[in-house]
Amino acid sequence: MLDVSRRAVRAHGLARYRDVLVKLGDDGVRALTSEKLDEMEIRDVADRSRVMRMVREMRVEAKRSTEHDEDEDKYVDVEARKDDIESGATKNVDERRMLDGQERSPEIVPAGDAGSAAPSLKKVMPAPRAQSKIRVSVRKRPLNGKEMTKKERDICTSDAAASEFTVWEPKVKVDLTRFVESHAFAFDAVYDASVSNDEIYASEVEPLVNFVLERANATCFAYGQTGSGKTYTMQPLPGRAARDFLSAVDQFRDSDDARGNLQLWLSAFEIYGGRVFDLLNARRKLRVLEDSKSQICVVGLQEHCVVGAEAFDKLIERGAKARCVGCTGANSESSRSHAILQLVLKRPVDQAKAQHAAFTTGEPLTAEIFGKLSFIDLAGSERGADTTDNDRQTRIEGAEINKSLLALKECIRALDSGATHVPFRGSKLTEVLRDSFLGDSRTVMIANVSPAEGSCEHTLNTLRYADRVRELTRGSETSTTGSPTASTAGLARRHRQSMQTQRRSSMPSTPRHSQSTFTLASTTTRLESRASAPSARDTDVARCTSSAPLATPGLGTVEPTSREEAVRAHDALIDVILGEEDTIIAEHRAHVERSMAMVRREMEFLERVDEPGSGVDAYLDDLETVLAERAEDVARLRERVDRFRALLRQEEALSARVSSAATP
Ligand SMILES: Nc1ncnc2c1ncn2[C@@H]1O[C@H](COP(=O)(O)OP(=O)(O)OP(=O)(O)O)[C@@H](O)[C@H]1O
Ligand SMILES: [Mg+2]
Repeated sequence: MLDVSRRAVRAHGLARYRDVLVKLGDDGVRALTSEKLDEMEIRDVADRSRVMRMVREMRVEAKRSTEHDEDEDKYVDVEARKDDIESGATKNVDERRMLDGQERSPEIVPAGDAGSAAPSLKKVMPAPRAQSKIRVSVRKRPLNGKEMTKKERDICTSDAAASEFTVWEPKVKVDLTRFVESHAFAFDAVYDASVSNDEIYASEVEPLVNFVLERANATCFAYGQTGSGKTYTMQPLPGRAARDFLSAVDQFRDSDDARGNLQLWLSAFEIYGGRVFDLLNARRKLRVLEDSKSQICVVGLQEHCVVGAEAFDKLIERGAKARCVGCTGANSESSRSHAILQLVLKRPVDQAKAQHAAFTTGEPLTAEIFGKLSFIDLAGSERGADTTDNDRQTRIEGAEINKSLLALKECIRALDSGATHVPFRGSKLTEVLRDSFLGDSRTVMIANVSPAEGSCEHTLNTLRYADRVRELTRGSETSTTGSPTASTAGLARRHRQSMQTQRRSSMPSTPRHSQSTFTLASTTTRLESRASAPSARDTDVARCTSSAPLATPGLGTVEPTSREEAVRAHDALIDVILGEEDTIIAEHRAHVERSMAMVRREMEFLERVDEPGSGVDAYLDDLETVLAERAEDVARLRERVDRFRALLRQEEALSARVSSAATP
């Protein structure tokens, strides 16, 4: 039995520890923990990483050899998944769980040469992770100047071949001895600090460009804490993708492929504090509305036809400048919003067909959407925890960010499990991305992390979020690869409908809201269970139909009893506040317009009363009428203001309750 550890020690380049490791025996090696490594004085981070990897492989090998014959039907021949193995595709493993003895290791596929001394791959293997709709990668940025000045250590190591990422968390025991706890994760790809943006583009985005050229939708997210490199990673990607789209279209044109007619369109907007702003149109505020066909429209979003790379770069520069940035401790240019940039391939409208459609259906026919590639630079993930901040604006932003990141994860979960209900309505972000997710779509999530020990907790949170997103995709491989289930077929059908509807609704010259009757579809289960008050969405719809009755905001009388309930109630209240804010501004505007009309009428009364022979009685009647109208108007606005103030007080109280529940 000693052979296994001996071989493994050699294969992992651990010769200098051979004696001590071989002495432990196979069982001893398999039982190694990072604490034991401390005791054995193996302190070098790279060596520790190698040892723990060897330990994992040995555990896998041991488990596999006992389970090998049990259920052959579950396995496929290793040859059949050679590509997967060579590309280092592994299953996630949280080392702490393994140390706890709860390993789910039989699914781990060690990367390496089957002929080497590493655990053998010749035997049967679990079914491969099929071409998933979701791909999750991790990118580590270099230590920055500030971190180096503070002499912070780099506590993250990555193993590109095994697609494995490890965080070495420094800890202190009760007896004040220091030790390191390691957390190992495996993703579809891991990138260390030396990896360039070009390499990221080649492995993460180029495949999406090719996929979209086959008439599909794809989305690329950058996730991570503030200052972890989301914007750095995301910013160059659309430019590269646009160039590739344009050159592909040129090539299709040369080869008479129908795709040679495609046009590339660009739009960019940001979601900040639950509101949507057009980044390519002077930050014009946009509304997200659902039309009578249940299609979500970002009303008024400007799309720009991309004619060349230089014009594209100028537009992108304009969009980047328009982004809402602030300064955080970790980043002087921190993005406080989710930025969404969409590249849409469209087939131009055939003039004859357009005229025919206008004549027969009365509806304009606009360019048909062929495929869409969306880039989303998410707001700093830790900002979701800002809900207990002293500043209300920060709390509102934090609550919105929190809600949208949770909703994003829930949507990916629902989509990948083939659920019939996907909770897109959980946030503005998921609402506007709905059509990008449906049908034959692909999603890439790049989790960005800082390597510094001071960011350890956030880095672990980021990796756990990314791990859960990826984990959700693992149990559902059949639904994404086999014949579509009833529910995925349903989603695909709805996606086709969505494409069709967009052909009509995305015509730039047509004001969409004037064509559609906006209806309020049922609110999400999450919101329903939380509040009886109208949501922000209700208020949008009410404004759109101009028949808004004065709603009664408030969150009912049920007192939240736990912190979770308080957080949920707080989230729901933020929705109500955002909606009420929209409404009060609209009401105030209308009030000013009415006041101006009244002033004009009053001027007329005054002119009339000065005319010789005019009766003062008529003047008094007119004056009384206008004063009564004005008083009524002011009272209505006052009522709105009081209601809004009450909501803000409620928010203060709830936020204080969340904070006090958070402090032990
Ligand atoms: N891979 C990298 N290589 C070199 N520098 C990087 C890398 N990633 C990030 N940086 C630098 O780190 C700083 C912060 O990065 P960035 O602005 O992309 O963070 P962010 O995740 O977008 O933060 P926020 O959520 O606050 O917007 C920038 O100065 C950026 O140039
Ligand atoms: Mg940023």
